[in-house]
Amino acid sequence: MPSKSFYITSPIYYVNDIPHIGHAYTNIACDVIARFMRLDGMEVMFVTGTDEHGQKVQKASEKANVPTQQFVDNASQKFKEMNEILNISNDFFVRTSADWHKQSVIDAVRFMVEKGDIYLGKYCGWYAVRDEAFYAENEIKDGKAPTGAEVEWVEEPSYFFRLSNYQDKLLKFFDDNPSFIQPEGMRNEIINFVNQGLSDLSISRISFSWGIPMEKFEYSDSDGNKKVGFDADSATHIMYVWLDALLNYVSCLGYNSSNTSEKMHKYWPASVHVVGKDILRFHTIYWPAFLMSLNLELPKCVIAHGWWTNEGQKMSKSIGNVINPIFLVDKYNLDATRYYLMRGMSFGHDADFAQSMLINTVNVELCNKLGNLCQRTLMFIFKNLDGKIPNANSESLYEREEILKYSLNKFIEYKEHMQKYAISKALQSIVDIVYEANRYIDHEAPWVLKKTDIARMNEVLYTVCELIKHIAIMISPFIPDSAQKIWKQLGLEQSMSFDEIKKTIQCGNSIGKIEPIFSILE
Ligand code: MSP
Repeated sequence: MPSKSFYITSPIYYVNDIPHIGHAYTNIACDVIARFMRLDGMEVMFVTGTDEHGQKVQKASEKANVPTQQFVDNASQKFKEMNEILNISNDFFVRTSADWHKQSVIDAVRFMVEKGDIYLGKYCGWYAVRDEAFYAENEIKDGKAPTGAEVEWVEEPSYFFRLSNYQDKLLKFFDDNPSFIQPEGMRNEIINFVNQGLSDLSISRISFSWGIPMEKFEYSDSDGNKKVGFDADSATHIMYVWLDALLNYVSCLGYNSSNTSEKMHKYWPASVHVVGKDILRFHTIYWPAFLMSLNLELPKCVIAHGWWTNEGQKMSKSIGNVINPIFLVDKYNLDATRYYLMRGMSFGHDADFAQSMLINTVNVELCNKLGNLCQRTLMFIFKNLDGKIPNANSESLYEREEILKYSLNKFIEYKEHMQKYAISKALQSIVDIVYEANRYIDHEAPWVLKKTDIARMNEVLYTVCELIKHIAIMISPFIPDSAQKIWKQLGLEQSMSFDEIKKTIQCGNSIGKIEPIFSILE
């Protein structure tokens, strides 16, 4: 992958349900990282989408009494709408029911067959449709999966992937790449799981039809002998939905086994897969093993975030307490929702969602601190300086004003956090500048200096404008629309980028029209 390319993915979402804040959270987190990387000059590919095959989806469409293709078309559209409403800047939207995806998957799986990594056997064991996952006997507790999902006993012919062959290679890979799985605690869980021994993975089912059939095909082995792949009553074998779904990460780049895709050359291996902690096992064991089988490089890292609960309770359809992100945007506005989702959960940990916390966080940090800082500074400039950026020697200010040095250090800290995907820590670095800038203006009191020392007043106001500019750039991945409004109110016209941090604002420039950026939430 060229060094300027950056490829980030969200999970692709099951279409048996409508989008909720768990999905919104992951997509906003990916969006923040993607926007940050673009500001940093990277060529970003950010992909999200929908996971449309499998038993769970088929059952949901049957329950709704809608033809399955129509059902998935409608449901997938809901996820696209969610992305638009949340201002998600994805470059591509994958749908696993699309023909190009299916072609790419069939090509990949045939490659695995030809390599000898897939064989026909019989699966006898537990399966949870809700999780679309197989569970070993020792994982079943009180008749349920460790996730609490209902399980059913399955006994049927199945194709298997030789996962056991990859156990040692995976352990070596984890060892050689300590930052592959983040956070650290979850990495240890995965390593323990692999250390307990991996069984081969069942990768086809015959008990339902909604998915990619494993159709018979002919090929020549390395000695030129004619062979047949998927020769069992093949069209009845439907591909395991996780094999199909994980391959979306390369199908969307046009993967084919002859390696002719330009996008694959440009963006693979992925820089980061962002996932919820519940699906880490699929992404850090199965997916790397599939990739090894395909002779493809492994993603640079997989990061797992925690789960949102609702006022202390697990969210579920049956309890009826699932939070709809679109409802939040309607009620509180977009950037308030984006800000709180990023600020209210420390990345990698679980968090409880409470509307009172959203209101409080947004009112204190965005309205009272950031909004107020912009409003009072720019209003003062408007009233007292004819709306022009004050005259000050910007270079000497950067040498003399401790607060500007502080802010630049925080900028470095912020970048380091973001480069490690420590989103909450990065946001904290910005909040630190906002609080310090407020303290600075209170302490320097330009409204007093106006009567005693105009030159100093100009310096102070200029310094605060620079701080507001730093904040606008840094916070733009989190709340893009509001950051853009701040930028315009400062009178800046060039497009925002990290290079602008070092270019000082031109004295005498007119500031823009001043309007409140954030409104107090009730
Ligand atoms: N289709 C699979 C992913 C395939 S990726 C190749 C899937 N889909 S899902 O729709 O069930 O879940 C998608 C993501 O939503 C997961 O990362 C999961 O962790 C996340 N969340 C679901 N509920 C959540 C919360 N309550 N809180 C935060 N995220 C949660 O799994």
